[in-house]
Amino acid sequence: MRARVEFLIPARTSRPSDDPIFSLNAEAVARTKQGESIINATLGAIMDDDGKLAVLSTVIDAIRGVPAVVEAGYAPLAGPVAYHKAVIGDLLGKSPLAEHAIAVATTGGTGALRHAVSCFLEPKQALLTTSRYWSPYKTIADENDRVVDTFEMFDAAGELDVAALAKKLDEHLATQGRALLFINDPCQNPTGYTMHERQWRAVVDVLLAASARGPITLLVDVAYWLWGFGDPHAMLPWLEPLLGKVGLAFAWSASKSFTQYGARVGALVFVDPDAGRRKRTLDALAYACRGTWSNCNAAGMAAITQILSDASLHAQVDAERRVLQQLLNGRVKAFNEIAGRTLRYPRYDGGFFTTVFVPGGKVADAQRAAATMREDGVYVVPIADSLRVALCSVAERDVPRLVKSLQKAVGG
Ligand SMILES: Cc1ncc(COP(=O)(O)O)c(C=O)c1O
Repeated sequence: MRARVEFLIPARTSRPSDDPIFSLNAEAVARTKQGESIINATLGAIMDDDGKLAVLSTVIDAIRGVPAVVEAGYAPLAGPVAYHKAVIGDLLGKSPLAEHAIAVATTGGTGALRHAVSCFLEPKQALLTTSRYWSPYKTIADENDRVVDTFEMFDAAGELDVAALAKKLDEHLATQGRALLFINDPCQNPTGYTMHERQWRAVVDVLLAASARGPITLLVDVAYWLWGFGDPHAMLPWLEPLLGKVGLAFAWSASKSFTQYGARVGALVFVDPDAGRRKRTLDALAYACRGTWSNCNAAGMAAITQILSDASLHAQVDAERRVLQQLLNGRVKAFNEIAGRTLRYPRYDGGFFTTVFVPGGKVADAQRAAATMREDGVYVVPIADSLRVALCSVAERDVPRLVKSLQKAVGG
């Protein structure tokens, strides 16, 4: 064997092999198995109060009921037509946006984000998102030879910094001739922040003003849309003015909505009133499906289609989810009550996560704080200058201990 031969291309020789969130989770699980009392607030999945993955039994039944020949067969490349219809109906409901929508099946919301990057940006161009964002956005961009650029997420009042967005958007249009904006709302990962009507209307105004200078696509990542407070469809009327002026895409996912993280069921939904452009977009997205994973999980899509198309099954799943929502809301309420006066974190109305800011504002400060907490048996994820806390996996009874450890680590 010749020494020092490298078979990888240079750009792939120093990829990190593991996601830090999964490594921390593995450590927390290992310590729990050894009998230690551990609070594991790392993973983005709803756990019941005994630390077991929470599932919706009607969804499990629907998956088990998928006929063998459907499960074993290839699904159409872009997904079954009935699935598209079901997803569009679920996401857009009675909104006038629905009649201009197309969808393709993707491997979870991640697949939809991937297609957006490859179809709405040229190679080497940057997608734009908030300064705090789900780190796989960067992984997806890297893998597709694109990059991530950010705008400062919060203004002095702790709300979305729309002026910072406007400035960056202008830069992207000037340098790239186009822009792709990822907004994860509601219940943003990692901050837990949810935009209200005021922020959405302001973002839409900025997008409309900038749209005269080049093509802009807004991708709304709605991975957590059924876990917030209020009506999940509330944002749709605020987005309507974008129709035909700004490309409007959604990354829809069954992972959190149906607690089916492993089924890999998702969709990219695109809304455009121009029939020709809509058809070209559908073709490009279907081609992207073939060129990446061919087709998605047939059984998962069949089960989700059945649930979404059958009013009584749908209502049953909603009722089961509501039980978990109440569990989560109890944890969020307890956290806000205990931590609200002492810790600094963004407005947290509900959702899987919140992010606690670490004084000092340096990566090393956050790493140190997370390490201190691990000594207490409490696991959170250090992200840049802050700590992501997954309330979705912490029992309400453990919230006081979690907050105490946070206060000790960040000096609250
Ligand atoms: C912000 C965000 N977007 C999208 C996803 C996509 O998840 P999936 O690919 O499992 O649907 C996740 C999952 O954790 C997420 O946190």
